Amino acid sequence: MDELKEKDLTVIFTQEQIQEGIKNLGEKLNNLYGLEEELYLICVLKGSVMFTVDLAKHLKMPVKMEFIRLSSYGSGTTSSGKVNAVDISLPNLNDKNVLIVEDIIDTGHTARFLVDFLNHNFKTKSLKFCSLLDKKIKREVDINADFYCFDVDDKFLVGYGLDFDGYFRNLPYIGYLK
Ligand code: IMP
Ligand code: MG
Repeated sequence: MDELKEKDLTVIFTQEQIQEGIKNLGEKLNNLYGLEEELYLICVLKGSVMFTVDLAKHLKMPVKMEFIRLSSYGSGTTSSGKVNAVDISLPNLNDKNVLIVEDIIDTGHTARFLVDFLNHNFKTKSLKFCSLLDKKIKREVDINADFYCFDVDDKFLVGYGLDFDGYFRNLPYIGYLK
């Protein structure tokens, strides 16, 4: 960790930009789902922890939050393409509105795995996928987010939940390593 410091990051989304994007997404979800029916948010740990809690604060319908833990990245900055379900225990989601909340869609393997897993195990009322960031250029699997806040280029990003070797998740902004 000695060689990687916060000062070596180039900021691409400030705290204000991120919060504005999430507020807009929250309003969109309130309009789409309405205020009456409950919505299950599935937070994909660890990366989407910040995004999920900030998004949840804008939602006006009854919300339940579930947390699952997957890992796909190895130690470095390239996706392994293999999704490892570290902890995927969930309540019964039959007949529920379910929204998967991810930090970033990169190759798409994680998104595909999750959507298939939920469809295989539950007959949800609705199942949608939202991601803070969409790195379309890296896609290997034909899947897209139903909602996302920002498009990003092919750079390895950190901050606001995204990590490099476990570090930088706590930053309130998103940047890339120079
Ligand atoms: P995918 O399965 O390749 O789409 O990757 C999804 C997961 O890889 C995301 O949920 C992130 O946790 C992680 N990831 C993808 N791109 C980045 C990045 O640029 N920085 C940090 N983590 C990333
Ligand atoms: Mg993630």
